[in-house]
Amino acid sequence: MSVQSAVRRKTAPEIRARKNGEPIVMLTSYHAHTAALVDRHCDVILVGDSLGNVMHGFETTVPVTLDMMILQGRAVMRGSKQALVVVDMPFGTYEASKEQAFHSAVRILKETQCGAVKLEGGVRMAETVAFLSERGIPVMGHIGLTPQSINTLGSFRAQGREEAGWAPIETDAKAIAQAGAFSIVIEAVAEPLARKITQSIDVPTIGIGASAACDGQVLVLEDMLGLSPRAPKFVRRYGNLGPLIEEAIQGYARDVRGRAFPGPEHVYDMKKVT
Ligand code: KIV
Repeated sequence: MSVQSAVRRKTAPEIRARKNGEPIVMLTSYHAHTAALVDRHCDVILVGDSLGNVMHGFETTVPVTLDMMILQGRAVMRGSKQALVVVDMPFGTYEASKEQAFHSAVRILKETQCGAVKLEGGVRMAETVAFLSERGIPVMGHIGLTPQSINTLGSFRAQGREEAGWAPIETDAKAIAQAGAFSIVIEAVAEPLARKITQSIDVPTIGIGASAACDGQVLVLEDMLGLSPRAPKFVRRYGNLGPLIEEAIQGYARDVRGRAFPGPEHVYDMKKVT
């Protein structure tokens, strides 16, 4: 007997088909509880390796492991129902060879049951993107600023700031689009370059700090909620939850210290619970 869930999840081919259509809405999530909220409003949930910075307080995404991504990917799958869940492949789990990438991606798909993986890099990853795509693994690309390369880049600066630097980024986009990526994240590039790339490839571009010229947008949830200690300059804040959470914690601490912790009579209707 086959079991089909009532709500069907979006798929990578459906996101691919949104080129020149309705903009793709994507946010990160690493937990079941935030995934449930994001799921109601977004097409794609990214379990980003930014969890290394946001959840674990690392300076970079370099220390993130495959096991960390799989654990949080499983939580996000449990919390969501309709969005396509994409899980980042962390640094060191896919660059050595296309076979290494295949084994890591298979673990991610089998152990989380997510719908796609994301990896960083352009021309140098094209062969790997083709290898995975041809073997049943939908791949989202990631070009422009690629945070996993921080140790060779030296800083998290915007890429292609001068027109002279545009060509390699455009070549990267074309290479992984042709290799079979179903969409491509473009991070921290100037608007004219993002527009040029978006117009020159036939898969959707998803911008982060790359202007409204892209086919969709992604942000790190905690950055746009005002919960990250350091968010990139381009992030628009849609909330400022940090002070609200702290106020609630202060109120709780005050009550406990003043022995004013609410007893059941404040919380429950005792007639119902007895
Ligand atoms: O890890 C992440 O959250 C990302 C986004 C910034 C696109 O890759």
